[in-house]
Amino acid sequence: MALVPLALAAAALLGGCGTYPQSDFNAVGPVSQLQRSALVEDMRFLGVIGIIVIGLVVYAALRFRHRPGQEETPAQIEGNPRLEIAWWVVIALGLVFLVVPPLRDEFVLAGAPKGPGVVHVKVIGHQWWWEFQYPDYKFVTANEMHIPVGAKVDLEVTSVDVIHSFWAPNIAGTLDAIPGRINSEWIQADKPGVYWGQCKEFCGLNHANMRLRVVAESPEDFQKWVESHQHPVGVSQLTGEALAGWQVFDGPGTCKNCHTIDGTDAKGVIGPNLTGIGSRVGIGAMTLVPNDTANLVRWLHDPQSVKPGNDMIIPKLSDQQIRELVAFLQSQKTYESPQVKAALENPLAP
Ligand code: CUA
Repeated sequence: MALVPLALAAAALLGGCGTYPQSDFNAVGPVSQLQRSALVEDMRFLGVIGIIVIGLVVYAALRFRHRPGQEETPAQIEGNPRLEIAWWVVIALGLVFLVVPPLRDEFVLAGAPKGPGVVHVKVIGHQWWWEFQYPDYKFVTANEMHIPVGAKVDLEVTSVDVIHSFWAPNIAGTLDAIPGRINSEWIQADKPGVYWGQCKEFCGLNHANMRLRVVAESPEDFQKWVESHQHPVGVSQLTGEALAGWQVFDGPGTCKNCHTIDGTDAKGVIGPNLTGIGSRVGIGAMTLVPNDTANLVRWLHDPQSVKPGNDMIIPKLSDQQIRELVAFLQSQKTYESPQVKAALENPLAP
C-alpha cells in the first residue's frame, strides 16, 4: 500500500518529462531556462531536506520503539530551549536558501528590455481568445503570436473582461492578464518552432479552449510575416467563390461587424482580427485544429455548438454561403515560414 503514493508521486514527476508539446521542462529560451533551473535547484534542496527529515523519523522510530518486556514509561522530557532555537534557526536559513534561486532570476528578468532589436507585443485576453497587437508595425493578429528567434520580446499583458493568464510554458512562466492593469514581462525563444500555450486562469465556460501558439521563426521570416500584414491580400484580386465569400462577409449584419480584415473595409473589433486567417494553424483559439475546410465548415455552420458561450452568434448560413466564406477565408493568407508550413502539415506535433 505504501507504494501507491510513491507511484503517484513518480508519475506526477515523470509526467513533466518527455516530448510533450506544452512543457516548461522543454525550455527553449533564457526566461524558461532560468525559471526551470530555479525550480530544479529548489526541488533538489527540498529533496535533500526531505531525505534528512524522513531519515530522522525512521531512525527515531526504530531506535526508540517499544521493545518486548519493556514495562516502564520512558523519561518524559518537556521543552528544550536550546534545541528549539536551533531548529528555528535551521528552518529560517533553509527558507532564505530556498528564496535565493527565484530571487536571483527575478533580478535578471525584471525590467523592460531596451534596444533596437526588441519587439513589442501587447497581449489582450478576451473570453476566449487572445489578441496580439504589434505597435511597432501597426497591425493586430489573434491567437498565433509570431516572434523572431533570439530577440527579446517585450510583452504588455492585459484583459478586456475577466482575469486570464498568458502562458506559453516552453518560453516563459505565466503572467496574469488583468482588466484595467498592464503586466509586463519579456520572453525569448532561441529555437525556431511553433509552441503551444494556454490561458492558465479559469475564465469561464471555454477557458480550456483559450489556447494560443507562439511561432518562433528566423528574423528574416518574421520580417516577411510582418510585411505580409502591411500588404495584406485584401479583396481586389479575388474571383469566383472567394469573391462571393467576401460579399457574404461584407453583407449587412454579418461578419464584418465583428471582425477586421486588413486590406478590406471590415473593421469590426468584437471578435478576433482575421487578417491572414488562411495561414493560421487553428480556429477559435485552437478550439478546432487544423484550420482546414472541414473544420471551417463546422465552425461556420454553428459556432455555438463548437464553442458554447462564445460571442459569435450568427444567423444560419446556407451551405453555399459557407462554401463561399471558406474560400474567402482561405484566400486571406500571410507569409508562411518553414515553421508555419510544418505546423500546417502536422498541426498537433510538439
Ligand atoms: Cu482565459 Cu482562462
